[in-house]
Amino acid sequence: MNRRTFIKGAIALTAATYFYPNIVFGAENFKWWQKKPVYQIYPKSFLDTTGKGTGDLRGITQKLDYIKSLGVSAIWLTPIYVSPMVDNGYDIADYTAIDPRFGTMEDFDELIAEAKARDIKIVMDLVFNHTSDKHAWFLESKSSRNNPKADWYIWRDEKTNWRGIFGGSAWQWCEERQQYYLHTFATQQPDLNWENPDVRRALYDAANFWLDKGVGGFRVDAIVYIKKPKTFVDGTPDALDGTCAVHNMIANTDGILDFLHELKREVFDGHDIFTVGEANSVKPEELKYWVGKDGVFNMLFEFSHVNVMFNNGDEVWHRSKPIKLSELKKALSDSQAATKDSWYPIYFENHDKPRSVNNFFPHGSDKILAAKALAIILFTLRGTPFIYQGEELGFTNTQFDSIDDYDDISSHGAYNLARSDGLSDKEAMRFVQKFSRDNARTPMQWNSDKNSGFTTGKAWLPVHKDFAACNVEVEEHDANSVLNFYRKLSTLRNSSDVLIGGDYAELYPKNEELYIFTRSLGGKKFMTIVNFTTHKVNLPDKIFDGAKKILGNYADEKNYLRATEAAIYEF
Ligand code: NOJ
Repeated sequence: MNRRTFIKGAIALTAATYFYPNIVFGAENFKWWQKKPVYQIYPKSFLDTTGKGTGDLRGITQKLDYIKSLGVSAIWLTPIYVSPMVDNGYDIADYTAIDPRFGTMEDFDELIAEAKARDIKIVMDLVFNHTSDKHAWFLESKSSRNNPKADWYIWRDEKTNWRGIFGGSAWQWCEERQQYYLHTFATQQPDLNWENPDVRRALYDAANFWLDKGVGGFRVDAIVYIKKPKTFVDGTPDALDGTCAVHNMIANTDGILDFLHELKREVFDGHDIFTVGEANSVKPEELKYWVGKDGVFNMLFEFSHVNVMFNNGDEVWHRSKPIKLSELKKALSDSQAATKDSWYPIYFENHDKPRSVNNFFPHGSDKILAAKALAIILFTLRGTPFIYQGEELGFTNTQFDSIDDYDDISSHGAYNLARSDGLSDKEAMRFVQKFSRDNARTPMQWNSDKNSGFTTGKAWLPVHKDFAACNVEVEEHDANSVLNFYRKLSTLRNSSDVLIGGDYAELYPKNEELYIFTRSLGGKKFMTIVNFTTHKVNLPDKIFDGAKKILGNYADEKNYLRATEAAIYEF
C-alpha cells in the first residue's frame, strides 16, 4: 500500500468511526457469544447413560467433543431443575436444585468444568413467569388468604373468559383459598406476581446462584408475560377479541421494561455472560428497547419468522395458513434491520417448533438439500446462529397416529381446541402432526443400533423411524452429510469478519421463489442465494457477475438454480 492510499484509508476509517460509532471493524471487537454459534440441548432427549429411557447430564458431558466439533461457544440447556415434568421441566418446583432424573449437582459441576476445558460455556434457562404448582412457594400461597406468601401468585374471586396458551381456561379454582389463580400456560404452572418485590428478590437470588456456579448466561423463558396490564390489576376484564387468548391480554404490556431493567441490574450486570429473552409478540420495531446499548438483553428470540404461518400471537394450529416466502423474508429482513446496531439470535428450530425442513420447505423438497439450504441462511444472516440438537443432522418431523401417543401438553390442548371448533379427529390430527412440539423432541440419533444409541432402555418418546440413515455415526463418515456441511459453515462463519459483523441487505424482496441477500463490510461482500421451490428457477440478470461460489448444497454450478439449490458467493 502506498502512502497516499494509507492516509486516505485512515481518514475514511476515522470518519466512519466518528459518524457511525456502532460500526465495529474486525471480529476482534466482538464478544465471545457473537463470534461462534450456540448449541441448544433438550436434555431429556439427548443421551441416557443409565438405561432409564430419558437423557441426563452425564450424557451431555460424554458428548462434549461432538458438540465442540460444531465450533460453538456455548450450550443452552432447557430446564434441568427439580420438576414434576408436566411441561418437561418448564414447571419448576425448586430453582436451585437439579432434578434427580438428570443427575446430581456434582454431575452439573463436572459438566461446567469439562465444557470449560473445551472453551464452551453452559447457559441456563430461567423460567420466571411461573413455577410448578408443587413449588413450596405455591403450596404456601394456596394454603390460605393471609399466609406470608398469599400474594406471591395471582388470585381472583372471579375468573375471566381468557384461554390459556395450552388450551382451556387460564384460571383454575383452588378449594383451599376459594379463589381462582391465573396460569398463562398449563394448570400446573401458576403465574408469579411480579408486582411483589419479595417475589422478584427470590427470583434474582435463584439466578445469582447459577452465576456463582460459573454459568455463561441465561435464556429467559416467556418473559413477555411477567407484567400484567393495569386494566388487569384494576378490574381483570374479559377478552373482547373473539380469540379470548390470554396472550393477547397480557403479553408485552406497559411497564414490563421497568421490571426487566431491575433484573438486569440485579443479575446480569457486571458478568461476562450473554442473555437472550424469549419474547413472542415483541415487534421488530420495538427491539431497540429490549436489546443493545439501552435494552435489557443481548439478544431476543422474537417469533415473527417462525410464526409467519399464524395471523397473530395466538398460534392456533388449525387456523394456520401456508407460508408466503415474501412474508418469511420480510420477517427476517425486518429483524435484521431492527438489530443492525445490536444483535440477533438466528434460529429456525428449538424444542417448541416443528423441524425446519418440514416447516419451511414445500412438500416434495429433497430433505438433505433443504436442511443444507436452511443451514446456509442460519450461518450467513447477521447474528449468533442457534443450532438445535438434531438440526445439524437434518432431522425431520415424526408422526404418531393417535393423540394418545403425543406427550407434549400443548398438542393435547391444540387437539381439543380443534375438536371443539368442529374438526374431525383426522383433521385435528393433521395439525397436531404438523405442529406438535414432539416433532423436535424425539431422541437424538447417535448410531444405527437399537434406539439409535440414545438409551439401552425404553425411550420416553419413540426414536424417529429414519434413524438408521440419519445419525451422527453415519454422517461422520459421509463427506457430503448435513453434519459435515454444518461444520464447514461454522468454520467459514467463525473466521469471517464479513459474516460475523457485515451489513445485511436483501435483494428482490417480492420474489416468491428465491431468497437473496448480501453481507458486506469494508469493500468485501458475500451473497446468499436460496431457491425455495422444487423446480428450476432462472436468476435475475447479472447477479453472479464478479462472484465466486464458495459453498453450496450442489457441488457444481449452473447459471440457473436447481430445485432447493442454495449457495454462498463471495465478491
Ligand atoms: C416457552 C418454552 O420454550 C416452552 O417449552 C414452555 O412450554 C413455555 N415457555 C412455558 O414455560
